[in-house]
Amino acid sequence: MASPLFSAITSHALLIILFVYLSSISNNLAAKHSYSSTHHHHRSSHKSSPFRNEKLHQAYIAFQAWKRVIYSDPSNFTSNWVGPSVCNYTGIYCAAPPYNHKIRVVAGIDLNGADIAGFLPDELGLLSDLALFHLNSNRFCGIIPETLSNLSFLFELDLSNNRFVGPFPRVVLSLPALNYLDIRFNEFEGPLPPELFNKKLDAIFVNNNRLTSMIPPNFGANNSASVVVIANNKFGGCLPPSIAKLADTLEELLVTNTSLSGCLPPEVGYLYKLKVLDVSFNNLVGPIPYSIAGLAQLEQLNFAHNTMTGIVPEGVCVLPNLANFSFSYNFFCEEQGICSNLTSKRIVFDDRRNCLPERPLQRSNKVCQPVLEHPVECFEQHCNGPFGGSVALVPTAMPTAAPMFSPSMAPTHT
Ligand SMILES: *[C@@H]1O[C@H](CO)[C@@H](O)[C@H](O)[C@H]1NC(C)=O
Ligand SMILES: *[C@@H]1O[C@H](CO)[C@@H](O)[C@H](O)[C@H]1NC(C)=O
Ligand SMILES: *[C@@H]1O[C@H](CO)[C@@H](O)[C@H](O)[C@H]1NC(C)=O
Ligand SMILES: *[C@@H]1O[C@H](CO)[C@@H](O)[C@H](O)[C@H]1NC(C)=O
Ligand SMILES: *[C@@H]1O[C@H](CO)[C@@H](O)[C@H](O)[C@H]1NC(C)=O
Ligand SMILES: *[C@@H]1O[C@H](CO)[C@@H](O)[C@H](O)[C@H]1NC(C)=O
Ligand SMILES: *[C@@H]1O[C@H](CO)[C@@H](O)[C@H](O)[C@H]1NC(C)=O
Repeated sequence: MASPLFSAITSHALLIILFVYLSSISNNLAAKHSYSSTHHHHRSSHKSSPFRNEKLHQAYIAFQAWKRVIYSDPSNFTSNWVGPSVCNYTGIYCAAPPYNHKIRVVAGIDLNGADIAGFLPDELGLLSDLALFHLNSNRFCGIIPETLSNLSFLFELDLSNNRFVGPFPRVVLSLPALNYLDIRFNEFEGPLPPELFNKKLDAIFVNNNRLTSMIPPNFGANNSASVVVIANNKFGGCLPPSIAKLADTLEELLVTNTSLSGCLPPEVGYLYKLKVLDVSFNNLVGPIPYSIAGLAQLEQLNFAHNTMTGIVPEGVCVLPNLANFSFSYNFFCEEQGICSNLTSKRIVFDDRRNCLPERPLQRSNKVCQPVLEHPVECFEQHCNGPFGGSVALVPTAMPTAAPMFSPSMAPTHT
C-alpha cells in the first residue's frame, strides 16, 4: 500500500529516490527539458543574477506570487520566504532534476499541517520540476489552477483536508508522472471523470467531498491502483463489474456511504489481493457474492447498514486472515456453520439488527417478514442514482453513530 511508505520517509530522502525513478521512466520528458535547462543555465551564469539558475528564479517568482495570496499563516511557515535562496524556504525542498545532475531545482513542497489560509496562484505552474506537492491540512480555498498542467514530473499530489471547491480538478488528468492523488476532505463537486481510471495511479483518495453522479462504468478498468477510497460522496449507481480489472493491484477498496445501489457484483471476489473491503452505509441489496470466499488476504470486511439479504456464507467466515467482519443493519436470515460463532475464530464481528433467529439484538419479525418474502433477483437489479428505486424498497435505518474513519480514510498527518 502506498501511504505508509510515503509517510515513513522524509520528503527529502523521498525526492532523491523519486528523481532516480522518474529519470528512468521519463526519458522523453527529460530530453525535452534538458535543452531548455542548459540554455537557461548558461544564460544565468553570464549575467550576475542572484539566482543559481533560471529555474530557481522562476521558483522565486512563483513563491512571491503565492505569498501575496496567503492571508493567514499562524505557524509562520512562509515568514522566511524572502530573498533568492528559495531552497532555504521552510517547506521547500530542492534536488537535482532527472535531466541535469549539476543543478538544483525546486522538487518538493511540504506544507502539511501548516494551517495556512489562502489561494493557489497561477504562477505555481512555473515550478515545472516539482515532484512532490503536499498541502495536507491547511485552509487553502478556491480552485486548482490549470497551470499545474506544466508540472510534468509531479508524482505525488496531496491537497487533502483543505477548502478547495469546484468540479473535480481535471488538470490532474494531464499530469503524466502522477502516481498518488489525494484530494479527500475538500468540497469538490460534480462527477468523477471516467478518464481518472485511465491513469496509472497507485493511490486514489477522493473521499469526503461532494462528488455526485454515477460511479464511472470504467471504474478501475484501466488502472493499477492499490488503494481506492471514494467514500462519503453521493455517487449512486452500482459498483461496476469492471472493478475486476484491478485484481492484480487493489488492496483496499473503501466505498462506504456513496449511495451505492443494486447487488454487489461477483467480480468483487476476483480482487484476490484485497485486504480491506468496506461497502457499508449504502443501499446495496441481494446476497453476499459467494466469490468473496476467495479473498484469502482479506482482513477487514464491512457490509453494515445496507439492505442485503440471504445467508452469511461459511466460506467468508473461514477466510484465513479475516480479523473484523461487520454485517449489522441488514436483513441476513442465516449464519452458515462457523459464522454463528466468530468469537471462536477470534474474529471481531457485528451481526446486530439482522433477521437471524438465534441471535440477540435482531430486527423484529414484522420488519423482517416483508423483506424476506420478496427475495431480490440480482440480474433484475437496475443501477439507480442517489435517490433512485431500490432505496425505497425497504426503510433503511438511518445511521445514528458518529462516522468512524478507518486509517485509510482520515487525512494523513505527517
Ligand atoms: C509568528 O510570528 C509572529 C510575528 O513575528 C509572532 O507574534 C508569533 O508568535 C509567531 N508564531 C509562531 C507560532 O511562531
Ligand atoms: C541556506 O541554508 C544553508 C544551511 O542552513 C546555509 O549554509 C546557507 O548559507 C543558506 N543560504 C542563504 C543564502 O541563506
Ligand atoms: C512552464 O514551465 C516553463 C519552464 O519549464 C516556464 O517557462 C513556463 O512559463 C511555464 N508555464 C506556465 C503556464 O507556468
Ligand atoms: C485505457 O487507456 C487507454 C489510454 O491510456 C485508452 O486508449 C483506452 O481506451 C482505455 N481503455 C478503457 C477500457 O477505457
Ligand atoms: C455520508 O456522507 C455524507 C456526505 O455525502 C455525510 O454528510 C454523512 O455524514 C456521511 N454519513 C456517514 C455515516 O458517514
Ligand atoms: C471493526 O470494524 C468496524 C467497522 O469498520 C469498526 O467500527 C471497528 O472499530 C473495528 N474493530 C476493530 C477492533 O478493529
Ligand atoms: C463457540 O465456540 C466455542 C469454542 O469453539 C465454544 O466453547 C462455544 O460454546 C461456542 N459457542 C456457541 C454459541 O456455539
